Amino acid sequence: MFDFTYYTPTRVIFGKEAVDRTAEAVKSAGGTRVLLHYGGQSAVKSGLIGRLEQQLAGAGLFVVTLGGVQPNPHLSKVREGIALAKENGVDFILAAGGGSVIDSSKAIAYGLGEPDLDVWELYAHTRKAKACIPVGAVLTIAAAGSEMSNSCVITNEETLEKRSYNDDISRPKFAIMDPTLTMTLPDYQTQSGCVDIMMHTMERYFTHGGNMEITDAIAEALLKTVIKNAQILHADPENYEARAEVMWASSLSHNGLTGCGNDGGDFASHKLEHEMGGMFDVTHGAGLAAIWPSWARYVCASDLDRFVRFAQNVMGVDRKAGMSDEDVALAGIEAMEAFYHSIDMPVNMKELGISPTDAQIEAMADGCVRAGGESIGSARKLYRDDMVRIYTAARGDV
Ligand code: NZQ
Ligand code: ZN
Repeated sequence: MFDFTYYTPTRVIFGKEAVDRTAEAVKSAGGTRVLLHYGGQSAVKSGLIGRLEQQLAGAGLFVVTLGGVQPNPHLSKVREGIALAKENGVDFILAAGGGSVIDSSKAIAYGLGEPDLDVWELYAHTRKAKACIPVGAVLTIAAAGSEMSNSCVITNEETLEKRSYNDDISRPKFAIMDPTLTMTLPDYQTQSGCVDIMMHTMERYFTHGGNMEITDAIAEALLKTVIKNAQILHADPENYEARAEVMWASSLSHNGLTGCGNDGGDFASHKLEHEMGGMFDVTHGAGLAAIWPSWARYVCASDLDRFVRFAQNVMGVDRKAGMSDEDVALAGIEAMEAFYHSIDMPVNMKELGISPTDAQIEAMADGCVRAGGESIGSARKLYRDDMVRIYTAARGDV
């Protein structure tokens, strides 16, 4: 195993009455003037925004609101938020939504931390952040794990670049998690969320070396729990217990727990998908489902032991007489595809509804290299040509 630092400063307030404790959480994190940031219409329609405004104002906090964050959140909205927050002397950003709203909030918080600098420089990786004002989250979708992660992903809609910036200073001060808030989600978003949750653990599972028994056991339990509860929610979206299992899994998958002792993670599927998100604006989790099987088949021989273990311990593949390790590993990948289909998730880009041209595939591979460097991945190092081959296989047209 490798040495590690595990840092999870986020206070989690979980359960049916959690939202009532938002103002108290903002105050104990030092907030006095709050930007309440949200997405399209879901949080307004559900009454959450009105409820939060009332609660914060009732607790003597100043509140200014900014909605309109789109999935794959845009840089222009971040800039609008920075300007509005500066005008109003905001000292705390409260995100009410999912990964997109939380990431937009983190980016605004970076912008306020260093008001004289251009925030996009962080995502272009031309400098590191030195400051960030505090962020809190009221979560409405279990998926990205941004409510406890150090990561923030923003799309520059002018250049179609979707880029991430990771820094512990942006980890939310608290996360309010009431599973009932997620019951209004369309099934497609619930299931995309489940895929993303699993991928955050799988990215850390398929690595070379440094694996710890306890980390593997946590990862495998988490993956099996999400598989089971995603299927329950597909049939019964108002099942509270299943909503709760999946919501807690979303945070544990991406707060670093499933990476302790390993080599830090593969994250190639994420990097490949972020280019698809930037170019085609696809839903992140569904995009991951569309790329993962092609990535897995491409790299599996280089990390065979892990794929065999995954097939047997997570996907329940039974090694029949005469099956080689390769056969078991492939059966595990096929079982994952069958699971994706069982929750109406795609297994390639055709099923996702996009068909990139050869030139677009080349452009996505170039983008991946610009964002991730000459090579990405841990299960197998991938260079530009490998990326092109994986995208081409994932197109699903042969
Ligand atoms: O905008 P509204 O109307 O709220 O609708 C949203 C949006 O259309 C809807 N929604 C959310 N909660 C709802 C709801 N609809 C009904 N009822 C509710 N309770 O769901 C849609 C998707 O929301 P979004 O915030 O985009 O989802 P998600 O949490 O999957 O976030 C995706 C973004 O996070 C990034 C992704 O790349 C993507 O940009 N990621 C962020 C990470 C991080 N910061 O740690 C890690 C991830 O790997 C990921 O890259
Ligand atoms: Zn993700």
